[in-house]
Amino acid sequence: MPTLRSKLPEVGTTIFTVVSRRARELNALNLGQGYPDYPIDPRLTELITEALATGHAQYAPMEGLVELRERIAAKLARHYRIESDPGSEITVALGATEAIFSAILAVVQSGDEVIAFDPAYDSYEPAVRLAGGRCVRIPLTQPGFGYDWERIGAAAGPRTRLVLFNSPHNPACTVAGSADLEQLAALAERHDLLVLSDEVYEHMVFDGGRHHSVLAHPGLAPRSFAVFSFGKTLHATGLRIGYCVAPAALTAELRKVHQFNTFSISHPAQFAIAGYLAERPELGSELAAFFQAKRDRLCAALAGSGFVLPPAQGTYFQLLDFSAFAPPDDMAFAERLLSEGGVASIPLSPFYEQPPALPYVRLCIAKQDATLDAAGARLRAFAARLRRGC
Ligand SMILES: Cc1ncc(COP(=O)(O)O)c(C=O)c1O
Repeated sequence: MPTLRSKLPEVGTTIFTVVSRRARELNALNLGQGYPDYPIDPRLTELITEALATGHAQYAPMEGLVELRERIAAKLARHYRIESDPGSEITVALGATEAIFSAILAVVQSGDEVIAFDPAYDSYEPAVRLAGGRCVRIPLTQPGFGYDWERIGAAAGPRTRLVLFNSPHNPACTVAGSADLEQLAALAERHDLLVLSDEVYEHMVFDGGRHHSVLAHPGLAPRSFAVFSFGKTLHATGLRIGYCVAPAALTAELRKVHQFNTFSISHPAQFAIAGYLAERPELGSELAAFFQAKRDRLCAALAGSGFVLPPAQGTYFQLLDFSAFAPPDDMAFAERLLSEGGVASIPLSPFYEQPPALPYVRLCIAKQDATLDAAGARLRAFAARLRRGC
């Protein structure tokens, strides 16, 4: 056996895979990993089948199918009133995950520092490290997962190259306001930073709130990669189609990595999504009401149970505050909830470099109403058992 030196020695299997595997073994309701348990729109299935039947099974263009990039530009114009050039500013990627990875590899050099906010989505730091950079992880403040812009400003220095921003935020379920984008823009301008804005939950903003895209901010758009996911927007995480929107110079660098990372992305899936967007140009507008109803259903099911559910501002997750029943050890509580309560959830600790004591676990609400009702009943029963002290 040759000597092996791992490039990511601390990285194990992700918490999502571990929890999903355990949920299957224990026959638990899986509100852990973020994916829908209901079918996709049958029309999308038809379009995918048609794409294969009509010969779209060979390589697609490296930067993405032109029909799809044009539809994406139209979608951006509709939602954010921005002009983007499908030729030089939009790249179709293998899910948002690949867009994030390729963008980081394209711009982070050895010795660069990258600011990320904890809790941070788990794919950010490994990409930075593989690029030879170092993540400087700054915790969001408690309560409420806010940004401490003074602390963030103090962390930026001559080596800082990139800020990783995520709104709506997974797993905090918060939505950044325009004041946060102003602060981010000022910071980026002061230190000449690039921004990677993860906006995969762009359409899932509740209670009349609105998503502020970096693309619509005059100070941020010229220095940002904005990353989106059709997996989220089409309830189809397995299609693995995402995209990155960035100024031409940044897009050119991103594509240099993308073309050797993946070469090109599923042609039939791109063709089908382009057709679907042609038929439904308003795609995305329906999602806030759809997921808000699911959030409210779960919150109502648990009202008075002792669990507190601070209503999610966005995403397709909802935090469950268990502080009435157990000490703030989210790993231990998630394990008990899974093995004794029959519900799989995701603790927040794995999203931190230095996990604080937090009394939350994350539940996925992208589930059939029947699943949410069954989970609500199991959670209520578990709360009753905890209250009785058994
Ligand atoms: C914040 C965030 N970014 C990126 C992704 C990855 O998206 P995709 O499935 O399109 O790769 C996810 C998926 O859960 C996510 O929650």
